[in-house]
Amino acid sequence: MAIKTLEQFTDQFTAFLREDPGIEQILDDGRQMLAELISSPGWLQPTLSQLVLDDDFLQSQWQSIDPYDIQLYHSPEKLFSVRAFIWEANETYPVHDHGAWGLVGAYINRVGERKYTRLDDSSDVNRAELKPVVEAELSPGQMTYVLPQNGGIHQMAALDGRTAVTIHVYGRPVRKGFINYFNLHNQTVQRMYPPSVNKRIYAIRTLGSIAEPWAGDVLQQARQGSYPPAVKMEIEYSLDKIQTLG
Ligand SMILES: [Fe+2]
Repeated sequence: MAIKTLEQFTDQFTAFLREDPGIEQILDDGRQMLAELISSPGWLQPTLSQLVLDDDFLQSQWQSIDPYDIQLYHSPEKLFSVRAFIWEANETYPVHDHGAWGLVGAYINRVGERKYTRLDDSSDVNRAELKPVVEAELSPGQMTYVLPQNGGIHQMAALDGRTAVTIHVYGRPVRKGFINYFNLHNQTVQRMYPPSVNKRIYAIRTLGSIAEPWAGDVLQQARQGSYPPAVKMEIEYSLDKIQTLG
């Protein structure tokens, strides 16, 4: 059956992923399904209207890492999610990676994408050397994709001076809780968290920069807490860092 609405897409994509396809099939058949959705006009209209007119709908959106990430659907079986990303004209967006595979299609106006490959060996979590490899301009209906972590480092931008919307389908994450932003100029990596944990992460990093026993004590105490793996990782990084302070 042709895919013309978000509901038709999510029904058919759920059935597709329940068959446990490999990544090749996702990039082939799955991509075809998203291509059908983004070739169909009108179905995003209710979401855009509700975001503007309906306070409850606005509040129901969870606070994701990127503020321009609009949640459209989350599979109850946690197989995949569908989001709309809004790219503003003349804005520079970060070079970033992803925790999951993702299919991406241009929907409203044109977007540019630049893909990067990583030249370093990823041994330092705070540093990365990247090289641009592919550049593309996508018109509505055209697609690209990303693979998890170093397999999908890219940057997106609106073209033609117009706000653009892309539709993204992400699989089950292999890495949860944060994404990396890459600073090409300094060759640094910044781990980015959702607003719900951001302030905790910043406090953990601050403690890792204070050469006083109480700061280490708080981190040691935090080490015993039940935090998500990404937060535990930050605690360990800060404990390591404290060792290097004079
Ligand atoms: Fe992305």
